[in-house]
Amino acid sequence: MTAFELIRAFAHDATVGIVVTDPMIEPPGPTILYANIAFGWLVGRELDDIVGHSPRFMQGRETRRETLDTFHRALAAGERFHGYLANYRADGTKYRAEIDCRPLRAADGRIENFVAFEREVLRRIGRPTISAAGRYEPISESKDPLTEALRALAVFEHV
Ligand SMILES: Cc1cc2nc3c(=O)[nH]c(=O)nc-3n(C[C@H](O)[C@H](O)[C@H](O)COP(=O)(O)O)c2cc1C
Repeated sequence: MTAFELIRAFAHDATVGIVVTDPMIEPPGPTILYANIAFGWLVGRELDDIVGHSPRFMQGRETRRETLDTFHRALAAGERFHGYLANYRADGTKYRAEIDCRPLRAADGRIENFVAFEREVLRRIGRPTISAAGRYEPISESKDPLTEALRALAVFEHV
């Protein structure tokens, strides 16, 4: 079983958005191969309108190019990207996404896919912080077993 197949098997009902792409990072890639139901809710689209497209469809006027360049460099280096991006739903509403994206490697080290865990966060009010992680908080904190497991795996944590 590949890592992608494993994710597909457990991600379906997860409350966190999960999206898997192919490893082609230059346009028109990466191409979304799988998205779970929670990802469809997060980005305000039917899964049929998500699979087959590049994650760039979520970008808009206030999506920071600098953060996207950091994202691109991490993908090209086969490293994890953890960051915050302004994204847009199909109806044009903007939301802030926390994204934890990692490469999925085959046994020989080749990157087969990328997987991202994504959730909506809000800016904390009145609390000055030094790091981006302290500046945002998730809109809802789920208590389901997968969320607990992701926490144990340090998904969304600074590692
Ligand atoms: C698994 C995965 C999920 C991604 N999710 C998002 C996303 O939610 N929003 C976004 O703006 N970009 C997302 N991206 C990043 C874009 O696909 C693209 O890599 C980014 O715009 C930087 O590359 P570019 O400089 O070629 O545009 C994701 C990439 C991957 C591999």
